[in-house]
Amino acid sequence: MTDILVINGPNLNLLGLRQPEVYGRTTLAEVEAMCVETGKDLGATVTCLQSNHEGVLIDAIHASRGTRDGIVLNAGAFTHTSIALMDAIASAEVPVVELHLSNIHARETFRHKSWIAPVAVGQICGFGPAGYALALRALIGHLETRT
Ligand code: DQA
Repeated sequence: MTDILVINGPNLNLLGLRQPEVYGRTTLAEVEAMCVETGKDLGATVTCLQSNHEGVLIDAIHASRGTRDGIVLNAGAFTHTSIALMDAIASAEVPVVELHLSNIHARETFRHKSWIAPVAVGQICGFGPAGYALALRALIGHLETRT
């Protein structure tokens, strides 16, 4: 069975409480449950991880090398700062779909830059929590074209 890791980065543990006008009222637990259900519908096992720590995210990406089929990654603000995350993705050789709840391109200019985008299969942003299901579908579709 296809094995996918959904990674949420810093501050996303506060989803539902944090700036609801930007990120909505859906909690991280609800997002993760929806990811697992979407995975079941698509014949994939989905495991979810959230951390506020860059190194934990890097370790999880490294651990996915050869063990997971793909990753959906919302790196939060590390998206705009972390060359280390970009290098981890490039080194892990695991397909990554970049995901953001908000449309980062319609927000402050510092959010327009993504260090993840150059090493991702693609990017989904601006669709709120529904974006996670879109990202999973996109990733699984991508994996199917490779088999
Ligand atoms: C985010 C967008 C980032 O710019 C921000 O720092 C986040 C959340 C999103 O999901 O829209 O923490 O990744």
